[in-house]
Amino acid sequence: MPDQLRLLLGEDVIAQRVAELGQKIARDYRSSSQVLFVGVLNGAFIFLADIVRQLDFPHAIDFLRVASYGASTETTGAVQIRKDLEISASDRHLVIIEDIVDTGLTLSFLLGHLAGSRPRSIEVCTLLDKPSRRQVDLVPKYVGFTIPNEFVVGYGMDYNEKYRHLAGIHVCVPDPTEGIRVP
Ligand code: PRP
Repeated sequence: MPDQLRLLLGEDVIAQRVAELGQKIARDYRSSSQVLFVGVLNGAFIFLADIVRQLDFPHAIDFLRVASYGASTETTGAVQIRKDLEISASDRHLVIIEDIVDTGLTLSFLLGHLAGSRPRSIEVCTLLDKPSRRQVDLVPKYVGFTIPNEFVVGYGMDYNEKYRHLAGIHVCVPDPTEGIRVP
């Protein structure tokens, strides 16, 4: 049985909201120096690319990668850094770019990790927020869409590394016979 996909947010709806978010971030940070956008790989790569193209002020971009979900659709709660920043976060204004905040465990870990470098400020911009799933008290400053508790793919987000390329965001009900790939 194939995975079942149902469109949740179309390409045009996403583009409109990303433009609004990017313009808000531009207003908030235009007069700041030393702004660093931190993309959380892999899921945020498309969102970050679209956000930064809305910006009209000098900024730096770097990426880090954490392991949290593994190959399943549920978080394990165990978060590890797989690739750290290469630009120093010290004395910079950080904007963490995430595709989705679910339990908040990944972000909670990242905020603690990045705070250790003594940045000037840290804020979070996430395309999607699932507050009903939250296990830690955490409210991102910039949120594209608040969504219900459904597993979503597309626009950078995957199921077993599939569907990241899709332009829209889809609810995915995985094929129950596929099994879970060990990363
Ligand atoms: C997703 C997403 C967040 C995290 C959110 O990453 O990009 O980093 O899960 O979940 P949480 O709030 O429950 O911690 P994922 O581990 O799926 O990796 P990927 O970005 O490489 O697909």
